[in-house]
Amino acid sequence: FTQFRLFQTASMQSKAKLTSKIAIVGAGEVGSTIAYSLILNPITGDVLLIDPKTEVRDAQAQDLSDATYHGNTSTRVRAADSKEAGQCDIVVITAGAAQKEGESRTDLIGRNLKILKSAIDECKPFRDDAVLLIVANPVDVLTHFAQEFSGVPKSQVFGSGTFLDSVRLRGILANKSGVAASSIDAYVLGEHGDSQFVAWSQASIGGVPLSEIVKDSEVEINKNEIAEETKKKAASIMQAKGATAYGIGGVAASICKSILFDQRNIRPVSHWQEELGVCLSMPAVIGREGIVRTIPIRLDDEERKNLEGSVKSLKEVIEEAKK
Ligand code: 2OP
Repeated sequence: FTQFRLFQTASMQSKAKLTSKIAIVGAGEVGSTIAYSLILNPITGDVLLIDPKTEVRDAQAQDLSDATYHGNTSTRVRAADSKEAGQCDIVVITAGAAQKEGESRTDLIGRNLKILKSAIDECKPFRDDAVLLIVANPVDVLTHFAQEFSGVPKSQVFGSGTFLDSVRLRGILANKSGVAASSIDAYVLGEHGDSQFVAWSQASIGGVPLSEIVKDSEVEINKNEIAEETKKKAASIMQAKGATAYGIGGVAASICKSILFDQRNIRPVSHWQEELGVCLSMPAVIGREGIVRTIPIRLDDEERKNLEGSVKSLKEVIEEAKK
């Protein structure tokens, strides 16, 4: 019978095809769910978990590793320190307190700004081509400060923003129209929070403007109700189960894929708006360098007013946070 010999694991590692590394700073519910999405995809060689709570971090890394040994993924998960994170292709920042019931995302700023600063300081220096993906809330404000704290070019630091809200909106429209959510073009823009708005004037299904589809349909589309349902979805999930994780897990993994494979997908993510002087979500082309460019989406008067509302409220939170 065959005899097996034992080898150093290094020989196994060198055979992996995927060589990129993604660090996840914050190994709580959101961070570990993003890691799990990355394992399932799989798009990267290594996922590194970073968390000052080393016991939790190590346990998450072990549990997630158990999800890799069945052979359907080439991604490995392990615990690491912040210095190693700074040398990864992508650094996903989820570190921060989660919302409690009744809290808005902006209520978290006091707690999460301090956590963000120390998380970023500890990761420094960042690799020149590292992309920082901010996921912790309030994501738009934290993205603004992450650009400042990290010193990394602004195009390489952006937040998941309203991509998740847009996915939620598309899910609702998919159920109403009987068309796959991925074939629907509809954006939630502005703040990933209370002042967000739907860019209804640009929504389309299969290239046909939604306004025309609605005119000819029996199914009614109550825009205000749908926008409200989209906005409230996170809060209603949290009320029942305490947190949201799978939605953001899928969205963050999808963004990582766009970056690593330079896919140039257009996604509504929170990034620096030169004209507005703030970070918020507008559709952007995402590639290996991060934000390749913003898509100059045309908004109608009401949507423009809503955008100004987001700008105003985000600037207020930023000014308050600076005090
Ligand atoms: C979400 O929208 C809480 O921002 C998180 O699911």
